[in-house]
Amino acid sequence: MTIIDRAARKAGTKLRRDFGEVQNLQVSRKGPADFVSMADQACEETLYAELRRARPDWAFLGEEGGERAGDPSKPRFIVDPLDGTTNFLHGMPHFAISIAVEEPMASGKREITSAMVYQPLTDESFWAEKGRGAWLMDRRLRVSSRRDMADAVIATGIPYFGHGDLAQWTRIFGAVAPDVAGVRRFGSAALDLAWVAAGRFDGFWETALEPWDVAAGILLVREAGGFVTDFRGGDRMIERQEILAANDALQSKLHKVVAGALR
Ligand code: IPD
Ligand code: CA
Ligand code: CA
Repeated sequence: MTIIDRAARKAGTKLRRDFGEVQNLQVSRKGPADFVSMADQACEETLYAELRRARPDWAFLGEEGGERAGDPSKPRFIVDPLDGTTNFLHGMPHFAISIAVEEPMASGKREITSAMVYQPLTDESFWAEKGRGAWLMDRRLRVSSRRDMADAVIATGIPYFGHGDLAQWTRIFGAVAPDVAGVRRFGSAALDLAWVAAGRFDGFWETALEPWDVAAGILLVREAGGFVTDFRGGDRMIERQEILAANDALQSKLHKVVAGALR
């Protein structure tokens, strides 16, 4: 975790500076798009250099650079250098770096064992280690204790240009929204999950996400006492690209509403 923390802070300092520059470029004629895509890639390179230096034989899967091989018997880093790119590009202060460690187990399966979602602008680092809980800096995290859907605030991701199934999302939204206190679309899946772990959101659903969007967040929610499943209630969130997370009390209620909307 020390290694991950150091890498995230170093990359986060650069992202913070680049975000300031985006706010300048916003008003220029060219706009910040090319600059942001360079900042995104540079951030991944910083993370790769830091993590590789500390763990030279571990593989690295990053959104920008893809898979970089390592010793297959060793763990692998799964990294999203900038989750919430659209926010970043538009000068909206809600984005994060997501880093997870996936380890090969004796069973032959691979499991996420360490996770960090770092929000550079608030300097909040949400982190978890398997079996050792989830934390916000040095404070132990616990999912919310709300038991009634009517009190719950649920996060989601809305499909957008070329991405996701809008008809399905609309059916689920139509079923969830009337039952809850509010639905939010803040634009960073990694932070949505970290915020479920922190008890800020009571639940979250989204589809069409990639491993780097959710690997860290899944461990955070589980270590904070919450539940994460696919839409059938199973464990294949990454293969099926469906994710449903909630506190322990609301998981089955939210699942029932989502599953009902899919029929
Ligand atoms: C995106 C964010 C967003 C989600 C998108 C993701 P990016 O990641 O997590 O909340 O709705 O589907 O692709 O592109 O900003 O790294
Ligand atoms: Ca992402
Ligand atoms: Ca990204």
